[in-house]
Amino acid sequence: MENKNIPVHVSIIMDGNGRWAKARGKDRVYGHFEGVESVRACTEAAVEDGVKYLSLYAFSEENWNRPADEVATLMKLMMKSIRDEVSTLMDNGVRFVVLGNRERLGEELCKAIDELMEMTAHNSRMTLIVFLSYSGKWDIMQAMKKAAAELSPEEFQAMKAEDFDRYLVTAGIPDPDLLIRTSGEERISNYLLWQSAYTEFVFSDVLWPDFRKPQFREALAEYARRDRRYGKVK
Ligand code: FPP
Repeated sequence: MENKNIPVHVSIIMDGNGRWAKARGKDRVYGHFEGVESVRACTEAAVEDGVKYLSLYAFSEENWNRPADEVATLMKLMMKSIRDEVSTLMDNGVRFVVLGNRERLGEELCKAIDELMEMTAHNSRMTLIVFLSYSGKWDIMQAMKKAAAELSPEEFQAMKAEDFDRYLVTAGIPDPDLLIRTSGEERISNYLLWQSAYTEFVFSDVLWPDFRKPQFREALAEYARRDRRYGKVK
């Protein structure tokens, strides 16, 4: 692919696993299993094309309200994927980061996440961020509380929008340039609310388990055609 206008940070709301499985007369979790293959394919394409940050909305705070067996399967799948991918991430120089509300994640999963984050901490080709038990409103709330606890009332009052960034869980990570949502849904669903202020959105009708390298590259091509003005006149 032509190496022009590659977004630094690509984020994906992976949607449509359940519908993909249902269309095949299978259980919803089958769609999640196949979705892991799409995670692998898009990660590979992102590394190959020179994207520096790829972030994935894997599990929202709202997803805890799904049937208990689906939540349990998703968590197990997350755990297995983490274990299985260690060597691939190391071989490809990928740093792995998980962001979200850790309070609701099991101890075993947190331990596996921490181990993989530590192991890959010095990899610098690309950063793969998995948002797990995350929501945009939760992030803004926790940032506000952190800032209020850390700053004097005067400092808090004087805080500017750019000063607030460092209290969000995404501190140090550039805001997404491109946000892709699959499966034909066209909404933000409490994802990176603060961070997506100037993000370009690309919506694809393709269900996540079918979203592979060609579809990822098509979204990158669509981004390359966009004219970003950040509210200014060019
Ligand atoms: C959305 O489809 C998908 C999810 C909520 C889970 C995404 C998780 C994975 C692809 C697996 C593991 C991820 C990693 C990072 C290893 P949906 O169930 O909402 O589909 P529907 O809208 O058709 O019901």
